[in-house]
Amino acid sequence: MDTDARQHLMLDSQNPAQYGKLPRHIAIIMDGNGRWAQQRGLNRAEGHRAGVKALKPIVKECAAMGIEVLTVYAFSTENWSRPQVEVEALWDLLVEYLRSETAELKAEGVRIQTIGNVGALPIRAQKAIDAAMRETASETRMVLNLALNYGGRDELVRAVNRWLDEHRPLSPDSYMTANAIAAHLDTAGLPDPDLLIRSSGELRISNFLLWQLAYAEIYVTETLWPDFNPMELHKAIRAYQKRDRRFGGLRE
Ligand code: IPE
Ligand code: IPE
Ligand code: MG
Repeated sequence: MDTDARQHLMLDSQNPAQYGKLPRHIAIIMDGNGRWAQQRGLNRAEGHRAGVKALKPIVKECAAMGIEVLTVYAFSTENWSRPQVEVEALWDLLVEYLRSETAELKAEGVRIQTIGNVGALPIRAQKAIDAAMRETASETRMVLNLALNYGGRDELVRAVNRWLDEHRPLSPDSYMTANAIAAHLDTAGLPDPDLLIRSSGELRISNFLLWQLAYAEIYVTETLWPDFNPMELHKAIRAYQKRDRRFGGLRE
């Protein structure tokens, strides 16, 4: 999106920053690329390309609004079960995205991080991720957290095993705590998501951030991910601002 369009958005009456508290951390399940492509008689890879394109203005808008962390579900541990050509196309798109966008993300103060078992990705993807993380390591405006080969159950298992490695040999009075689990998750150091957005209508979390979403507000839109835009983002945040977050307590 160009600067004029963005300025217009910031002035738009829907601009959530004018209304109330913004979520610190937004997590998005970017779903619906395949259906978007199918509706147009395109192949699924073209849907994913359109999905990557849709991400750019969302990242910009989140950074402009003052969101601290944006986590996007790009590839789940279950997505390996898709045809190999689709999986390969996704890694190609990731490499292309990181190569073409990192400089601009850096200029906007965005630090790129990942969650998920990145060590199992193809080497070309790992190299592109390392380079993008290194290049943006000193940025502090917003974290763009890419969930790659991510599964909530896999993350919990890896967290527990990491903890065990640190505590061997285990003494009889060693016990796990909630803080210890949180500190060994891939998201250690990040606040839990306040708002979970899922595009394209499915009412499930598909193994995303199982621990961290404990008290997230959930917003599902029928809009397919390639059609999701900053106006839709504003709508989601406005809906979030109207929620009554009780955390198990009573309403104020
Ligand atoms: C989400 O779009 C992107 C990934 C899972 C990588 P889908 O590819 O799941 O799109 P649908 O759900 O088939 O429409
Ligand atoms: C969730 O979408 C994963 C990503 C968006 C990366 P899926 O399309 O894989 O989820 P299901 O299969 O509909 O649950
Ligand atoms: Mg899907």
